[in-house]
Amino acid sequence: MNILLTGGAGYIGSHTAVVLSQAGHEVVLLDNFCNSSPSVLERLQKILGKALPCVEADVRNTDAVERVLREYKIDAVIHFAGLKAVGESVANPVLYYANNVQGSISLLQAMQKVGVKTLVFSSSATVYGEPQYLPYDEDHPTKPMNPYGQSKLQTEKILRDLAISDADWKITSLRYFNPVGAHESGLIGEDPNGIPNNLMPYIAKVASGELPHLNIFGDDYETRDGTGERDYIHVMDLAEGHEAAISYLENCCRGFEVINLGTGKSVSVLELISAYEEVIGCKIKKFITKKRPGDLPVYYAQANKAKKLLNWIAIRSVGDICETTQRFSAAKIIA
Ligand code: NAD
Ligand code: UFG
Repeated sequence: MNILLTGGAGYIGSHTAVVLSQAGHEVVLLDNFCNSSPSVLERLQKILGKALPCVEADVRNTDAVERVLREYKIDAVIHFAGLKAVGESVANPVLYYANNVQGSISLLQAMQKVGVKTLVFSSSATVYGEPQYLPYDEDHPTKPMNPYGQSKLQTEKILRDLAISDADWKITSLRYFNPVGAHESGLIGEDPNGIPNNLMPYIAKVASGELPHLNIFGDDYETRDGTGERDYIHVMDLAEGHEAAISYLENCCRGFEVINLGTGKSVSVLELISAYEEVIGCKIKKFITKKRPGDLPVYYAQANKAKKLLNWIAIRSVGDICETTQRFSAAKIIA
């Protein structure tokens, strides 16, 4: 298939590009590089042995998206393009609704014009909000706690309405849990600018000496060891989940379907740190600090629906996650 990846130069998009291209799909990237760098294209070329076409454009430019859909005879779109920092979304909600909701509407308008009606959407476990029960299954009530989560949920509602209005649409919304890790080559991975908000890139920066120590946000939660627990999923597992979703859309799905992509297991902050310490063979300097406002103690996925519909499960371990993160981090320093 000819597949367009909006936001394809980003963290999850670039790994998915590798998996799809290696599976024989023709992949086209579209990105405005607001949170990524064109240098990822050279690294993708090294991994794949060929260059992937990439168009620099904003998804909110409907005409530009329409041109790409026509020029590359696109059959399906995976819509990664979006902003994802929870704190920033609280400080600047308009930016998030404009980019994430308006961006999705613009993409859908372009797809409608060209008649491309197969779509995978990047959603998030954050749409569930405070757990009523765990693990979160796809029927868990949705009550996002911040504008970022709201922007994902509102987009899902638009997608559901669209699929009801026109039976030709095939749409899957994938709700990712906590994507971490890097490609085994160490050439691509997550490389946030400045001080990371998220645990895994923060650990990597402390391990490399870029940051002096890690702050653990609270150790008195009602969890196994008092620290927060999350469902960390290796980005290559996640990428393979997208390939499975594309096959599912091609072969079986009609209408709109929501599917969790997670491992179904939770790992605590201390457990993740100790797995990383094992990989690097030394201790990571850390302090317990106060809880981060808005953090939930624990959540993880009910991953059965992905297994049943997509024939997909996460296969990589926490050790794999730490090892590939460290490989990417070390390669970055040498480069
Ligand atoms: P990322 O920031 O690395 O990638 C997003 C890409 O989209 C970037 O390359 C950015 O430049 C591009 N982009 C943003 N707005 C754009 C626009 N208007 N037009 C064109 N390009 C635009 O983020 P990621 O971690 O790869 O996340 C991909 C998607 O998955 C996002 O929609 C995100 O909300 C969602 N998601 C991410 C996580 C996570 O923890 N990484 C969890 C759940 C859901
Ligand atoms: N944590 C620390 N220290 C840090 C960073 C995080 O102790 O420096 C802890 C947090 O308190 C939490 C755990 O590590 O217990 C994970 O935190 P992350 O910030 O890595 O991830 P979150 O689960 O808070 O949020 C992430 C993304 C959201 C997304 C959500 C669900 O940031 O955008 O996963 O997919 F919505």
